[in-house]
Amino acid sequence: MFNTAEITSQESENKTGPIKAVIVGAGNRTNVYSTFAVENPKELQIVGIVEPDPLRRKNAAERFNVPKDNCFESIDTFVHRPKFADAVINGTMDEIHVQTTIPILKAGYDVLLEKPIGTTEKEILKLNEIASFYGRKVMICHVLRYAPFYTEIKRRVLDGLIGEIINIQTAENVGYDHMAVSFVRGKWNSKENCKSSMLLAKCCHDLDIIAWLMSGVNPKRVSSFGSLMHFHPEKAPEGAGKRCLVDCEIESDCPYSARKNYIEQDKWGWYAWRSIQHLGPDPTVEEKIESLKTDNPYGRCVWHCDNDVVDHQSVIIEFENGATAAHNLVGGSAKACRTIHIIGTKGEIQGCLEDGYFTIRHPDPRKGHAYKTEKVYINVSNNMHGGGDLLLVADFVHVMKGNEPSISTTSLEDSINGHLIIFAADQANEENKVVNI
Ligand SMILES: NC(=O)c1ccc[n+]([C@@H]2O[C@H](COP(=O)([O-])OP(=O)(O)OC[C@H]3O[C@@H](n4cnc5c(N)ncnc54)[C@H](O)[C@@H]3O)[C@@H](O)[C@H]2O)c1
Repeated sequence: MFNTAEITSQESENKTGPIKAVIVGAGNRTNVYSTFAVENPKELQIVGIVEPDPLRRKNAAERFNVPKDNCFESIDTFVHRPKFADAVINGTMDEIHVQTTIPILKAGYDVLLEKPIGTTEKEILKLNEIASFYGRKVMICHVLRYAPFYTEIKRRVLDGLIGEIINIQTAENVGYDHMAVSFVRGKWNSKENCKSSMLLAKCCHDLDIIAWLMSGVNPKRVSSFGSLMHFHPEKAPEGAGKRCLVDCEIESDCPYSARKNYIEQDKWGWYAWRSIQHLGPDPTVEEKIESLKTDNPYGRCVWHCDNDVVDHQSVIIEFENGATAAHNLVGGSAKACRTIHIIGTKGEIQGCLEDGYFTIRHPDPRKGHAYKTEKVYINVSNNMHGGGDLLLVADFVHVMKGNEPSISTTSLEDSINGHLIIFAADQANEENKVVNI
């Protein structure tokens, strides 16, 4: 099936100099990850760019001082050049993750690949097969595994502190502004367009955390319920228009107001100002308002968009050893937060990522007591996924240098179970049945 002549040898012996990486897709995410190269030039160097958008290609090349010869507008032209780096950071959009990664693996590069791995079970299994055939390292950007909050929880689970896991309950409450920018107005608002369901796009981290905590126990069957309940025209409040800054009578009171979210609060600029990126990195307020009034998709009323993904979904999982787990995705909450509660045979762990601590409890049957409590405080960064984004890159560099993987290492093989749960959950929800994995 594969041509063995195409296999190139791996230089896996401990490497001392910086890892040289090529960015594929010079967008928002690779911009975040490559901050690691800016801060740690002795560890990681960006030496090439593959990006079809000329402006983004030019900006990234300037940021990393990449010569013109190492800038490519397509994967095809890139892989035809003899290998000139150790690895690729692939931050393209969901739908093309697998199709762009396969030629890169064949050309001899290891890959740090954005999540989701792919948008169908078939393609992620194919990618896994190809990666193992060529002996390439592929790590998935499941950044939450690296957030110290989850790493510390995992460490305690591995130490046997709460015994064998019986049940895991997680929730992801997607804040109202995030819901609107990504899943109502934005790039992940339609499965038809981006090929990812909301569960895949938003919660592949959460289902990955569940699968990771289960440490190799495979999921067995899955059930799920969810729908688009709020963000469609029938739910539009009286006075809502089609565009916040054109014909809306309730804009000043609306939490989803484009003016409030993207101009006054100055949030989500990477998405909101994409359509006017040609005006430069700092468009004026007047230019932003003009775009929101005219053709900017982020200026649309949240009740009058072309979105079709769910705004809430619940997933129930049974594992091969009988343990169970449940995950709730809720879009549009006031407080954006992720919660977790793990109950084991000897104790439990409960916490909220954004609160900066988790609690460990053990039964305490002494008279007048119920349980013993220990609180573990974590220095949680407000952005970059609880601090996970750059720790992931650090671990990728560490593994690329030939070191042992960490307890978080998101190898492709170890990242598949969470995705399988999601594909099964979406099928269960769509077909109204329990799906065996
Ligand atoms: N790990 C996380 O927590 C996290 C968070 C947000 C998004 N993501 C994922 O990151 C990925 C990228 O999202 P983003 O917001 O950075 O997207 P983006 O649109 O900002 O960047 C993608 C870039 O890829 C370029 N591109 C398109 N086709 C290409 C091709 N054939 N070859 C090379 N480049 C190509 C685009 O021009 C664009 O610049 C998505 O899959 C998304 O789901 C992950």
